[in-house]
Amino acid sequence: MKITILGCGALGRLWAYFLAKNGNDVQGWLKNKKNNININIINTHNVKNSIVLPTNNILHLSNSNLLIVTLKINHIIYALKKIIKFINNNCIILLIYNGIGIEKKLSFIKQPLLIGVTNHAAYKNDEIVYHNYQGLTEIGKINKHITNIQYDFLIKILNLSLPNVVWCKDIYASKLKKLAVNCVVNPLTTIYNCKNGELLKYNKSIFLICKELSYILRHMGIFISTTNLVVITKNVISNTKNNLSSMLQDIKNNKYSEIDYINGYIIKYAKLHNIYVYENIKLFNIIKHKEFNIISCDN
Ligand code: NAP
Ligand code: PAF
Repeated sequence: MKITILGCGALGRLWAYFLAKNGNDVQGWLKNKKNNININIINTHNVKNSIVLPTNNILHLSNSNLLIVTLKINHIIYALKKIIKFINNNCIILLIYNGIGIEKKLSFIKQPLLIGVTNHAAYKNDEIVYHNYQGLTEIGKINKHITNIQYDFLIKILNLSLPNVVWCKDIYASKLKKLAVNCVVNPLTTIYNCKNGELLKYNKSIFLICKELSYILRHMGIFISTTNLVVITKNVISNTKNNLSSMLQDIKNNKYSEIDYINGYIIKYAKLHNIYVYENIKLFNIIKHKEFNIISCDN
């Protein structure tokens, strides 16, 4: 399959490496044009694998059968609008991102559009990607331009490269459950400046945030008890114990985080329905304060 990966950070490099290793014709698409990208991945057994892949070739982009977008949520619309005119009508566009809130703005995409929710955990430091957890990736559709046969074929290719990949009939529900976990793990790790695994000692905070989220999710039509959500969250924390959450990485790297689309999404929904979400607002304000300090230092 001819593939372009838009957004070559931790997750994009993982997909690029494994898809290329499995015989696909892969290129990366970078913000700043370069001829190629050197990808280095250290896996959970501390083994390093490397590959050099081409980047930013327009012909490759326009002939791609698959475009995987692994950008931070706040960059997706801008970056896609810049290249959409080069993408052929049959190219499947797969967006893998955390957070919710841009979905209504994706109508400019006329190609078959899929959303991925992934439980892989990776972070990038000094051009090396540390792949800390090999998790499940669920994929589902948010528009109707795609037939069953196309995605069976796609799931097979993705699953051969970076397993496990499964088709998900209700990707929105999956995304909301992942959002709930991110609402707990991402701000708490950023506030305590710790790896995911260290959160297990903050039982009370985890419980209170999950209780609030369970209520909101139920209001959204997703029935998940507080106890169940605590279990799911603690499983993610244990599985990704050596990872630095993406929010902590962003703040450490002086970047805006995805908080507006994580706890911010919950707060917006709650406001609209006259529900007060004390825990989420508290976390949101602390992270916003950290972002504000970064931006003030920049000026
Ligand atoms: P990341 O390491 O920050 O990667 C994003 C990449 O996109 C960066 O290399 C960034 O370059 C690049 N970029 C930004 N604007 C661009 C543009 N206009 N054109 C091309 N490239 C551009 O983030 P990530 O960890 O891979 O995560 C990607 C998404 O997946 C996020 O929504 C994240 O929450 C989600 N996710 C990540 C993981 C994980 O384990 N990493 C797991 C589950 C979900 P610069 O750095 O130069 O700006
Ligand atoms: O955003 C992240 O970092 C990841 O989604 C997760 C699961 C919290 C692991 O670090």
